[in-house]
Amino acid sequence: MKKIRKAVIPAAGLGTRFLPATKSIPKEMIPIVDTPMIQLIVEEVVKSGIEEIVLITARNKGEIEDHFDYAFEVETTLDRKGKTELADVSRRIAKMCNIISIRQKNPLGLGHAVLCAEAAIGDEPFAVLLGDDLVDAVIPCTKQLIDIYEKHKASVVGVMEVPAEETSKYGIVSGREVESGTWKIDQLIEKPAPGQTQSRLAIPGRYILTPNIFDCLRRTKPGSGGEIQLTDALQLLASEDALYAHRFQGTRYDTGDRVGFIDATISYALKRPELRDAVKLIMKKHLGESQ
Ligand code: UTP
Repeated sequence: MKKIRKAVIPAAGLGTRFLPATKSIPKEMIPIVDTPMIQLIVEEVVKSGIEEIVLITARNKGEIEDHFDYAFEVETTLDRKGKTELADVSRRIAKMCNIISIRQKNPLGLGHAVLCAEAAIGDEPFAVLLGDDLVDAVIPCTKQLIDIYEKHKASVVGVMEVPAEETSKYGIVSGREVESGTWKIDQLIEKPAPGQTQSRLAIPGRYILTPNIFDCLRRTKPGSGGEIQLTDALQLLASEDALYAHRFQGTRYDTGDRVGFIDATISYALKRPELRDAVKLIMKKHLGESQ
């Protein structure tokens, strides 16, 4: 069985839910406290033991590539001023991993974005992490899914339970539970209306895929909004090969959504010892005012 060495991060979407910020800034570069959300995702990849990242980008997203490169003038200026620690913060990001970047020239959907990675991935299994989806976990979410992939030797999607009224926001899976927290999937439905499915197991944005997903994607016709849906290709994979779902441990934030972004910002700020007390005071002040 081949080891997972590569991760695809689709980050070519338009980010319309975050306008006007995303008019000229890639959504993925918006910081959670002081760290761009894409860096937090890359850190998850690296902590999961993956060495190479295939970034799917688009026009106006060049800042993402710059962020993972050296910033020579900033770093040498900081060194000259004796601020080596800060210079090292910047250099550490460039050293973190190898990034190959591929342009998705038209935003034809998540499935299409993954298909754009085919030449860089080749005949290997790989991880997919959405560029605006954070999971805060003790064991990185991607590492948890890799362990399930190695056990069952098949593709795996990370799932979480959502309330019935939220199924319409996600791809929902159903199947047979093969061990506590792991299911063999029979069916995937993209954004079902409340009540349309009994299952409440939603796919937020973490996957381990075998390379036969590319063939499934090629055979997937554009669905809603003219986009090639990854969920439709996963349904093909589940019926022709095998697909597992695993309920990961950790807290997930949809940072492409304004409320999810605010939730992540408060939570990550409260975890920083140097910010915690100040943030608590600010929250008390605002909560007092709004009562
Ligand atoms: P989203 O639908 O959450 O992102 O796609 P979006 O399209 O950027 O955002 P809104 O809805 O307009 O606000 C989930 C992930 O898939 C990527 C996005 O960049 C995001 O990380 N994506 C989506 C692509 O790479 N290409 C696409 O064609 C669509």
